[in-house]
Amino acid sequence: MAKVAFIGLGVMGFPMAGHLAKAGHDIAVYNRTRAKAESWVAKHGGRWAGTPAEAAAGAELVFSCVGDDPDLRAVALGPDGSFQAMAKGAIHVDHTTASAAVARELAAEAEKRGFAFLDAPVSGGQSGAENGVLTVMVGGDAQAFARARAVISHFARAVTLMGPAGAGQLTKMVNQICVVGVVQGLAEGIDFGLRAGLDMKLVLEVISKGAATSWQMENRGQTMIDGKFDFGFATDWMRKDLGICLAEGAKNGASLPGTRMIEGFYREIQAMGGGRWDSSALIRRLRKA
Ligand SMILES: NC(=O)c1ccc[n+]([C@@H]2O[C@H](COP(=O)([O-])OP(=O)(O)OC[C@H]3O[C@@H](n4cnc5c(N)ncnc54)[C@H](OP(=O)(O)O)[C@@H]3O)[C@@H](O)[C@H]2O)c1
Repeated sequence: MAKVAFIGLGVMGFPMAGHLAKAGHDIAVYNRTRAKAESWVAKHGGRWAGTPAEAAAGAELVFSCVGDDPDLRAVALGPDGSFQAMAKGAIHVDHTTASAAVARELAAEAEKRGFAFLDAPVSGGQSGAENGVLTVMVGGDAQAFARARAVISHFARAVTLMGPAGAGQLTKMVNQICVVGVVQGLAEGIDFGLRAGLDMKLVLEVISKGAATSWQMENRGQTMIDGKFDFGFATDWMRKDLGICLAEGAKNGASLPGTRMIEGFYREIQAMGGGRWDSSALIRRLRKA
């Protein structure tokens, strides 16, 4: 069993760290809002640490799952950040959805300091984290990946090395570009069907057996019909992710016309007060008209 640390016990990090504790790893956790770390320790055992550095000291593997690039920089490079305390030969596995640029920057900084950094964003949402069946797309050093893989697998059903530092984040960008196109299509189809007076529950039952099927249709179709969005992957996070995709597209020449348009739709959802609504709330702006 490994000595591990987990930084960021949010919707995703809380259950992911829980799987590591259940597997018997010796774990220290840090969360900015202390109450969440205390409730995690009450539920799973392990140790609470007052700073990311304190959690990371002496750990073989340090996991993080925070919000965005600045948050990741703060918990890794800040004065109390994990990088200040990581042991030589240790590995930092970051599950935040962030830019490829910050992944490369932290991988280079880690190498200078004698340890490794893997960018390892996830797909599968809150239920995937709770059930330990996330898909993890990893960028970074192959040897570090080989050492970290078995531990990551406690909360994942697929853990794949995609290439050098940044390749995990680039893969996640492809994922998000594909997802929002599907969600917008589903929103338009459901809105159209409701306006046409169709029994949309029956429509989805039928068409989900054909070429239109998707994870979004199977897991979000009915809740979109019912107008339920108080769960899942927040619009604020999706908009953050699409901003990352568009910035990368501006660098690599991908024009992303649909993604750009849908990013604007998410901005409208935020203006409607839906920043914390699930990203399937794209249908809301169609239903209000
Ligand atoms: N939710 C999903 O379905 C999902 C799916 C795939 C990927 N993701 C990605 O996973 C990451 C986390 O998502 P989440 O849903 O778990 O978010 P969340 O519930 O908002 O949790 C964010 C965590 O990061 C911590 N944090 C944020 N900024 C920080 C800072 N500057 N310093 C220290 N700690 C900081 C928060 O601490 P506090 O408790 O103090 O706020 C909290 O523990 C995001 O990058 C998101 O895009 C989420």
